Amino acid sequence: MKTILQNFYNTFLIDIEKCSTPEQVRDIEVKYLGKKSEIHSMLKNIGSIENVKEKKDVGKAINSTKNDIQRIINERKELVERKSIERRILENHIDWSMPVFSSSEGSLHPITIVRREIESIFTGMGFTIVDGPEMETEYYNFEALNIPEFHPARDMQDTFHLVNSMIMRTHTSNCQARSMEYMKPPLRIISPGKCFRYEAVDASHETAFYQIEGLLIDEKITIANLIAVMKLFLSEIFKSDIKVRLRPGYFPFVEPGFELDINCLICGGIGCKTCKNSGWLELLPCGMVHPNVLRYGKIDPEKYNGFAFGLGLTRLVMMKFGIPDIRLLNSGDIRFLKQFK
Ligand code: DAH
Repeated sequence: MKTILQNFYNTFLIDIEKCSTPEQVRDIEVKYLGKKSEIHSMLKNIGSIENVKEKKDVGKAINSTKNDIQRIINERKELVERKSIERRILENHIDWSMPVFSSSEGSLHPITIVRREIESIFTGMGFTIVDGPEMETEYYNFEALNIPEFHPARDMQDTFHLVNSMIMRTHTSNCQARSMEYMKPPLRIISPGKCFRYEAVDASHETAFYQIEGLLIDEKITIANLIAVMKLFLSEIFKSDIKVRLRPGYFPFVEPGFELDINCLICGGIGCKTCKNSGWLELLPCGMVHPNVLRYGKIDPEKYNGFAFGLGLTRLVMMKFGIPDIRLLNSGDIRFLKQFK
């Protein structure tokens, strides 16, 4: 029996060596391990062996040969499958390392391009990027920002009220209150995101638009720090030395509050149509964080202070690329989007 088994195994080894396709391996598997195989009948015949010890030995030998055959078949299967994939790749001449050159190649949305640029400038100055919810409570959108329930400032922002008694955030300033709650000063964050206002849509107004909120809290922060950070940021984004000026502006969550203007980039400050002959462009509201806002954020206003700003990202993108109509940004028009590759 042992010699028959040995011969059986040897012929198997010769046969399996010749297999070069998955189909051939499958045929060999059927031939050597299938129901009609020689080894199957050997197993069946064990019953006729009378000597118990011999029966046990033969049974063991058959099973171990069977296991060896199965293992070799599996290894061969894997090898020929891999080889057949490699062959198919070669036959089709696919060069996986080739860059994609396709006329249907996508491009980044202009808002994404500028947002990423701004994020990289601010992270370079030690700011962390945080996210906040678009569906918000009135508390974080208004109250924690020093805008109490019947304060007239709530009318400045036409709010989408939801049936679950929440609102769509009207600005990214909700991230000020939220980050103060879970980050302790000194803190520096920016928070880009979508905001929503119930407005009549025209060339410069949309119901959904992007802002980037900024907040810095530390000890002994002054307006000079605010100006320095804004100047650095704007000079980097516009790639030229930018002049800024501050005018008083009212926002309940900052005191004092400002409108920050930059010198007109079209005429260089002489006066033109874009800047309505003033030489300045209104760009970004900002101010020193109101002590009440710090108190809502559980930060001691005796020890800490800081500045905040709310950059209109959509507006900045339109200015930077000379986009005349805000509706183009949400139009999904590929011809428009492809210009920003
Ligand atoms: N959240 C204000 C708005 O949407 C913009 C703003 C003004 C944000 C002053 C600020 C700020 O952080 O200090 O109209």
